[in-house]
Amino acid sequence: MKIYIEENKDLLSLKALELVKEVVVNNPQATLGLATGSTPVKLYQLLVEDYKKNKYSYHSIKTINLDEYVGIDSSNHCSYHYYMNTHLFSHLDIQKENTNIPNGNTVDFLVECERYNTISNLYPRDLQLLGLGNNGHIGFNEPGTSFDSVTRVVDLTEATINANARFFNAIEEVPNKAITLGIKNILNAKTIVLLAYGKQKAKAVKAMIEGEISTGCPASILRTHPNVFIILDRDAAHLLNS
Ligand code: GLP
Repeated sequence: MKIYIEENKDLLSLKALELVKEVVVNNPQATLGLATGSTPVKLYQLLVEDYKKNKYSYHSIKTINLDEYVGIDSSNHCSYHYYMNTHLFSHLDIQKENTNIPNGNTVDFLVECERYNTISNLYPRDLQLLGLGNNGHIGFNEPGTSFDSVTRVVDLTEATINANARFFNAIEEVPNKAITLGIKNILNAKTIVLLAYGKQKAKAVKAMIEGEISTGCPASILRTHPNVFIILDRDAAHLLNS
């Protein structure tokens, strides 16, 4: 696990840009595992700016998103479909059919989870981008999730619903379920890049890096992966021992 501590969110995003860009430029057919939430917004903005400036292509890049809320349509501005289109996909020459996000508004969730799990196995990610929940979750794999978990529908914890309420008009509108890749799917990636900034992430960061490897902090399992980059700002890193 390589840990980088940057001065602020902008520099942390620049460091992540370097890593993502290296994959895209060296392998124009790479598969990227993508995350949502507030953490990667700046990185996506930098990727778009860099793409426009340097004109390399995303035409044959594939993407697999981590998760999607259950019960909201892809056109809903709080859906992760909407988020990805707004922040990234609509600005690149990426082919829509090469982008993958779980369908959270399906009638048969078993079929959808099986379909998405198969895609995830078919296209192992060259790089998996991750944010970190305040409670140590990755994707929507909440504390207590088995490290062998695969794609499935999960119940969101109260902590996650509260943390994500800021994206919705009212807390009652936050879905209480989501489809997420499992921890086993996440660990399949060749390289994992986790970003975290802000004091609200500091406890989870400490548990991930210095706590025991346990399902109590899902992100702690990343310490068993051979190629992980953790990029933090000073606030997120401030409880670390060294
Ligand atoms: C959400 C997402 C995660 C994300 C995390 C942190 O619940 N499912 O993929 O990493 O919470 O969100 P944020 O970046 O907004 O702090």
